[in-house]
Amino acid sequence: MSKEKILVTSALPYANGNIHLGHLSGAYLPADIYVRYKRLKGDDVLYICGSDEHGVPITISADKENVTPQEIIDRYHNQNKKAFEKFGMSFDIYSRTSLPTHHETAQKFFTSFYQQGLLEEKKTKQYYDIKAKMFLPDRYVEGTCPKCGFEEARSDECENCGSLYDASELKNPKSKITGDTPELKETSHWYFPLGKYQERLEKYIDEMNETYKWKENVLQYCRGWFKDGLKDRAVTRDLDWGVKVPLADAEGKVLYVWFEAVLGYISATKEYSDSIGKKELWKDYWQNSDTKYLAFIGKDNIVFHTIIFPAMLMAWNDGNADKYILPQNVPANEFLNFEGKKFSKSRGWGINADEFLELFPADSLRYALAANLPENKDTDFYWKEFQAKNNSELADILGNFVNRTFIFASKHFDGKVPPLKNTKPIDDEMLKLIKNHPAKVGKLLEQYKIRDAVFEMMNLARAGNKYFNDSEPWETVKNNKDDCGTTLNVCLQTIYELAIILSPVIPNTAEKLLTMLNAEEVEWDKSGYGNLKAGHNLNKSELLFTKIEDEVIDVQINKLPKEEDDKKKIHEITFEEFTKVDLKTAKIISAERIEKSDKLLKLQVKVGKKKKQIVAGLAKSYKPAELIDKKVIVVANLKPAKLFGTESQGMLLAVENAEGELNIIEVPDTVKEGTKVK
Ligand code: MF3
Ligand code: ZN
Repeated sequence: MSKEKILVTSALPYANGNIHLGHLSGAYLPADIYVRYKRLKGDDVLYICGSDEHGVPITISADKENVTPQEIIDRYHNQNKKAFEKFGMSFDIYSRTSLPTHHETAQKFFTSFYQQGLLEEKKTKQYYDIKAKMFLPDRYVEGTCPKCGFEEARSDECENCGSLYDASELKNPKSKITGDTPELKETSHWYFPLGKYQERLEKYIDEMNETYKWKENVLQYCRGWFKDGLKDRAVTRDLDWGVKVPLADAEGKVLYVWFEAVLGYISATKEYSDSIGKKELWKDYWQNSDTKYLAFIGKDNIVFHTIIFPAMLMAWNDGNADKYILPQNVPANEFLNFEGKKFSKSRGWGINADEFLELFPADSLRYALAANLPENKDTDFYWKEFQAKNNSELADILGNFVNRTFIFASKHFDGKVPPLKNTKPIDDEMLKLIKNHPAKVGKLLEQYKIRDAVFEMMNLARAGNKYFNDSEPWETVKNNKDDCGTTLNVCLQTIYELAIILSPVIPNTAEKLLTMLNAEEVEWDKSGYGNLKAGHNLNKSELLFTKIEDEVIDVQINKLPKEEDDKKKIHEITFEEFTKVDLKTAKIISAERIEKSDKLLKLQVKVGKKKKQIVAGLAKSYKPAELIDKKVIVVANLKPAKLFGTESQGMLLAVENAEGELNIIEVPDTVKEGTKVK
């Protein structure tokens, strides 16, 4: 196959916190493995990353610590850059969005859209925190829901009852930054007409998927967005930290962080070009239709990479002579959890990459994470599993195979590669495996099935161990030195291949293996052929992996915050308060869909003699007909509220599973409707 030109990016992490194992598993390790593999295939690969250094959270961290945002981003940019290096990330550049090149690039995009007449200026009212002197993004305003009275509702949507309302309707609004009551203040913003691109975006994703097979989890997210319909999005914010809006009357306004961050991939590529003295090189990737562009991200970033960024590139391409390529694939991962729970900085749950790498070698971590990537569903990091991967796979399988081979060669063959003589079926079989294995592993990597690929890589070491055992060189060395030499020759060839095919996952170990073999790196496709000549001098062997003792792992497990600490934080209510809730059994007598809502159903229920109308978010889990005659539990004294213009006079109890499906709580048919639930 001819050589490919490949541009790979990993999501630009915010310079507002440390990289943890979840980040590594989501967007970084899989990309690095892929990139290292492609480089070994001889392809022309450019791998770009950097810090995302704008956005409100950075300014809030700075205020809290009474330092400048620049201080925050410098700190985390440097720490994350170092942690990535220690982890063995092979970025061609780790840039940052605070650099002038980036500001210019982002402003150029905005200006082009503005001049093409794409951006619409709209006036809105937004909460303004007088003490903090800033407009508050939605998630920084909390108040009482105007519909259900929930006290921790966000400025324009209630998590409790699911209603959306105008920010001005929120009762008792509080700024989450200062705790003060914010005021509504008029402001104006520029909106990008995302909806206009929906048809083209759907077509783009369909076509890419047809040719390059996108991951099912990614397609699911996209379909969800398209189904809801794409809406205009404000691309500016009132803030003084960020990329200034390049218009005369835009004092105090910056580009919305997501609008410019995705363009950071382009600016970082420009930085790279400059740094190697080839100013125009970036165009050879971004504006070359022969380039294959892959964007590696975690699932929370999908919409920005499959919809918003491509729409922006389309908009640029419509109005300019130089045309950008769009992502050919966006192999997003789900999340990695930590010992059964989400990573959480505030609850002290999880471990940062730099802390981890102070304790254990990068290759052990890379291998353990790679074998358990959240490719199709969320996965968990468990300390015990990490220990097992290190001890029973890296040390016992790979380490042991390499070690016994080298010891044998040094003891009985003077540290030289013995010749391959009169191979027997057992040797031929192993040679055949060596020959075919790189293609097998490569095929999995091409499909982003990295977990499976890692399993296959280790299988070669497993096969090597078995071959060593079955060949019994400790016997043949006594009575048939030629056969013994053949065995060792094949084992050493196997190790050479392991040094190549394992190198994307455990690059430091791979390098050690090459040093021990006294051999050079070869291309992926050439790793399956007799690369070691008889008589070749080997170097001394080194220890590859140290086993991790139980005590060492237990120290880490014991450091985790205990369950009780968590429970204390649960908000308790008194019995009195609980009895205020009037729970009653009810029978559903009719159910119908609510127009324009794919979540809500309108139900008529009988509570004793009374009838009530309830709007419930069950439409994704039940067909209306399935609900008729079901006996359920309702909150009968809930204040009525309007949802999608329909009055709801109560609430129905249901449980939600991990997939977000609801199951109504049913009561036995023998119970009369209207009975009190205690
Ligand atoms: N900073 C974002 C995050 O950590 C990712 C930005 S990706 C980019 O979730 F493309 F916008 F840069
Ligand atoms: Zn509510």
